[in-house]
Amino acid sequence: MTEEMKALVDKLEQTGNLEDSEFKAVLTYEDPEFNSYLNERARAVREKHYGKDVYLRGLVEFTNYCKNNCLYCGIRAGNTNAERYRLTEDEILECADEGYDLGFRTLVLQGGEDPFYTDEVLVRIVKGIKERHPDCAVTLSIGERSKESYQMLHDAGADRYLLRHETASKEHYEKLHPENMSFDNRMRCLKDLRDIGYQVGCGMMIGSPYQTTDDLIKDLRFIQEFKPEMLGTGPFIPHHDTPFKDEKQGTTEMTVRILSVIRLMLPTVLLPATTALGTVDPMGREKGILAGANVLMPNLSPSGVRKKYLLYDNKICTGDEAAECIKCLAGRVQRTGYRIVQSRGDHVDFVK
Ligand code: 5AD
Ligand code: FES
Repeated sequence: MTEEMKALVDKLEQTGNLEDSEFKAVLTYEDPEFNSYLNERARAVREKHYGKDVYLRGLVEFTNYCKNNCLYCGIRAGNTNAERYRLTEDEILECADEGYDLGFRTLVLQGGEDPFYTDEVLVRIVKGIKERHPDCAVTLSIGERSKESYQMLHDAGADRYLLRHETASKEHYEKLHPENMSFDNRMRCLKDLRDIGYQVGCGMMIGSPYQTTDDLIKDLRFIQEFKPEMLGTGPFIPHHDTPFKDEKQGTTEMTVRILSVIRLMLPTVLLPATTALGTVDPMGREKGILAGANVLMPNLSPSGVRKKYLLYDNKICTGDEAAECIKCLAGRVQRTGYRIVQSRGDHVDFVK
């Protein structure tokens, strides 16, 4: 590793910022020693704020119906081979109870954009979970909605909202989505969520079709400006029933590098090592944690529907019970030198 490249990591750590040309150098430099140094500094920063703690989020994938047709996604409306399912309100509450008993203090309700779940239904579900488990944080990940809807759900008790921006380049966004989806509306949603007072998560896929290094730098600039409390990013993985079935998947190396860069830019961000990262590499989640990630999101969905929520091919953990995954994860995390803690794991700016 040259002294100049090492100095860029140090500058990023000290200032949280780099010039575009410097980001480009960091994202494209191929040198194992450099990668280790970047990961090491990211770990140091993460440990300053969160110590060795890793937070768990129990993910309930409650519907795979979706009205959208994103070109990359296995549950796109146009995929007539997807076996569709919806969980009932009771099933969702049961999942929440099970998650609570397993020690989760954050539940993430994730689903396709499914009009079946109106504001009224969702408000009932959020309130139901909050009444039974007032010490649990509820995170929603249900796509683009109106500001009124986001407000109602926040009033009902939802604490956080995940809505990946997918790419901060409008031109790139339009290559990943059909014409009826709008980059500007996605940005509007993120802004509304922020204004309402949610802890907000955005994020992008790494190595999605047509993505350039300049697009990734735009993502970093957007993240820097938006300052999300949470950031979800993982490799793009093709799904066999989508227009992108023959595209290349994103790499572990680039994903892990981006995780470290984000940690250095936003020292206190809540940053998961994603299931997609664990899918492209059997040690992916461990590598993510060792690159500065501090969150894991195991699946809590009932085992009967697990194999149906397939956004991409070869997804891991679709055959395991939640309890098994937690055991497995606890071992994996322990072997990295970190530890899973039972806590809501709020962003530091939101700790009451
Ligand atoms: N590969 C990786 N990630 C994907 N997502 C959707 N499809 C894929 C895929 N084929 C991600 C998107 C979405 C999140 C829920 O999953 O970023 O926002
Ligand atoms: Fe699910 Fe290992 S994390 S089985």
